[in-house]
Amino acid sequence: MNENLIRHTHPIGKSDRLKNNGHQAKVIWLVGLSGSGKSTLAGNIEAILHQKGYKTYLLDGDNVRLGLNNDLGFSSKDRTENIRRIAEVARLFNEAGIIVLSAFISPLAADRAQAQRLIGSENFIEIFIDCPLHVCEKRDVKGLYAKARKGLIPNFTGIDAPFENPKQPDLTVNTETDPPELSLKKLLDFIEPKLKLE
Ligand code: ADX
Repeated sequence: MNENLIRHTHPIGKSDRLKNNGHQAKVIWLVGLSGSGKSTLAGNIEAILHQKGYKTYLLDGDNVRLGLNNDLGFSSKDRTENIRRIAEVARLFNEAGIIVLSAFISPLAADRAQAQRLIGSENFIEIFIDCPLHVCEKRDVKGLYAKARKGLIPNFTGIDAPFENPKQPDLTVNTETDPPELSLKKLLDFIEPKLKLE
């Protein structure tokens, strides 16, 4: 950290932006294995909130890794840096008064805790998209599990890289047992009351 940097307070702050937007800004952090349904759910939540007039943005693993984080791989060091940068971006969106849907595996509890610290626990909603590995692997939407089993993708989460289940998420949605519409309803019922501006 450079000791010669001094944070500047500008005339317009987050509360001014929230007033203009008419709703709270939260970072809705979806955690789960590849193929658990995070991105699809995040997209569907965003579509509904957007139609209702909320200001939203979606940050998604593959997309962010194709741009901002295209210098990062899947070592544990790179995953930590991936989540740190995403958390910083989410913090900026939060300051801008925008609801962020984030869909990253974010497999390590320590990295998620750091994201929560950076974003602020009052702004952060952790949601576990719970789906057992064998089900994600059977779905194998992107064909990556098959490749990983063949040894073609090293450090694949759930195969030869760890995934730590969130211990105390704000909400768990089980996409093995619940049909997609029910998962979506549970998520929206949980999130929407938290978006009211007092
Ligand atoms: S994280 O672990 O660093 O949070 P992130 O969500 O950004 O992962 O990216 C995960 C996506 O990258 C997966 O959905 C998958 O499409 C792709 N991917 C490529 N290689 C791997 C790998 N070794 N482990 C997990 N996902 C991978």
